[in-house]
Amino acid sequence: MYNKELEQTLVLIKPDALKNSLTGYVLSQLSEFHTGLRFAGAKIVNVNKVLAEEHYAEHRGKVFYPSLLDYIMGLIHYPDEPWKQRVMAFVYQGPDATKKIRDIAGPTNPHIAREEKPGCIRALGTLVPIKDAGGNVIGERMDNLIHASATDSEAEREIKLWFKPNDIPPSMHAYPTEVSEDYYSFNNNKLYMNHEPGNICFLSPGDVVWKSDLETLRLLHQGLPAPCSLETVVAKYLINDKRENH
Ligand code: RTP
Ligand code: MG
Repeated sequence: MYNKELEQTLVLIKPDALKNSLTGYVLSQLSEFHTGLRFAGAKIVNVNKVLAEEHYAEHRGKVFYPSLLDYIMGLIHYPDEPWKQRVMAFVYQGPDATKKIRDIAGPTNPHIAREEKPGCIRALGTLVPIKDAGGNVIGERMDNLIHASATDSEAEREIKLWFKPNDIPPSMHAYPTEVSEDYYSFNNNKLYMNHEPGNICFLSPGDVVWKSDLETLRLLHQGLPAPCSLETVVAKYLINDKRENH
């Protein structure tokens, strides 16, 4: 039976919140005192291109997409300080986690947030014009301080993208896990079920993995249609990993 206590949702404290020292404010707004929710996972992540693209895959092709990637990668707020380019990622857990956090986050657009829900977190955000090479305004970027999963299925996809099972205490796991019995490595976006020199090995026998990731990897290895791409699975295993650039 579904246990409501295990409901989870992903929160990202984005680079604009970090730059404006709003971390403590955001965390206290989302604290157990206000929400009744608990931390199940927490990490500091330097967001690489693959992770950014996977996280915001639904916006691929939109006019604000390239700017959104730069934003979440910290390239907008810390263009010359790579050591500051990071976000804070949290898994919150408890009944109605997704709904409670979305309510406190407020509307996506900070101007609407200020009008409709003064006091919500995103009311402190800002809108930034996006210009083309000729300087013409072609859209706007919404710097809105935090990301919060919108639905339970989005939360599952996002938590599995940002967190490995071992980042979360086993008693708090909401999704099935499995122990890998094989090596998985890749090279030039091709998957191998062994470890060859020159390949980037991202899973070894004994590693604890989301069951759905192993199922995806097995399908991909057989050349069968899979629910997500190799990059989606690999992105998480290379979070904060120097080899991501090789
Ligand atoms: P989020 O995923 O960050 O929690 O935000 P959300 O669900 O409220 O909004 P979503 O539609 O998922 O958009 C993700 C992020 O993309 C930027 N955005 N810009 N210019 C625009 O029309 C636009 N629409 C979305 C925002 O930064 C938003 O948080
Ligand atoms: Mg969203």
